[in-house]
Amino acid sequence: MSDTILEVVNASKHFGGLKAVDGVSFGVSRGEILGIAGPNGSGKSTLFNLITGVPFGPTSGEIRFQGQRIDRWPAHRIARSGLARTFQKDAEFPDLTARETLLVCGTYNGQLGRAAARSRSDEVLALVEFDGKRCDIPSRNLSVYEKKQLMIASALMSGPAVLMLDEPASGLTRPEIERLDALLVSVNASGLTVLLIEHVLSLLLSVSQRLVVLNQGSVLAQGNPADVVQNEDVIEAYLGGRKQ
Ligand SMILES: Nc1ncnc2c1ncn2[C@@H]1O[C@H](COP(=O)(O)OP(=O)(O)O)[C@@H](O)[C@H]1O
Ligand SMILES: [Mg+2]
Repeated sequence: MSDTILEVVNASKHFGGLKAVDGVSFGVSRGEILGIAGPNGSGKSTLFNLITGVPFGPTSGEIRFQGQRIDRWPAHRIARSGLARTFQKDAEFPDLTARETLLVCGTYNGQLGRAAARSRSDEVLALVEFDGKRCDIPSRNLSVYEKKQLMIASALMSGPAVLMLDEPASGLTRPEIERLDALLVSVNASGLTVLLIEHVLSLLLSVSQRLVVLNQGSVLAQGNPADVVQNEDVIEAYLGGRKQ
């Protein structure tokens, strides 16, 4: 667990005068679930953009992944090197079935042949416990939870080492959040490192081995989740009257 798979070193992204991400540094250990918290607008999604290069890398600073500096790589090269992400806004292909969606993800850009994509789609559907009877209906008819399963399965099609999820619990009911909790634990147990941005703190605290809290583009606190949530600056950022 001590081996660092991903390292963000003094990374910044400024939009004109707005410091969306400002001098952020942290490491991610191979095999851990690292939670990322922070009020709305604190730079969490922008941080994912910088790491994956979608749609932009950092203004300054470095991103290192599996020993290589990736912050000047094009996004497709970063993705192929083993980093996969989901986006905050759900975006399924409404007319494609879950199976077709995964085949598109797998064969995109010649990544996998059709047979390999089909067998990989079986694996990822099983990993996210997608109901086999629902694989062949248009995605627009899937439930909110099934769309989340499909979103995660799609990200897994590239066979990543690190899975990055941006607020996957949004729109889910309490029992669905518990299912997602178990799903994230089993995805992690299958060997993936997970970076999880989540505003549902109960989920974040339940699954994360470590927590990084951002505020106004900077790291406010990081460490053991139980300690971080006791940190007075963190309590102030969440409860101290700043806009949530
Ligand atoms: N492409 C962009 N252009 C200009 N400002 C942006 C852009 N993306 C994000 N921002 C701004 O950067 C800040 C951080 O946004 P974001 O990373 O989405 O926060 P979070 O995900 O923590 O809610 C916000 O003030 C947001 O308006
Ligand atoms: Mg966000």
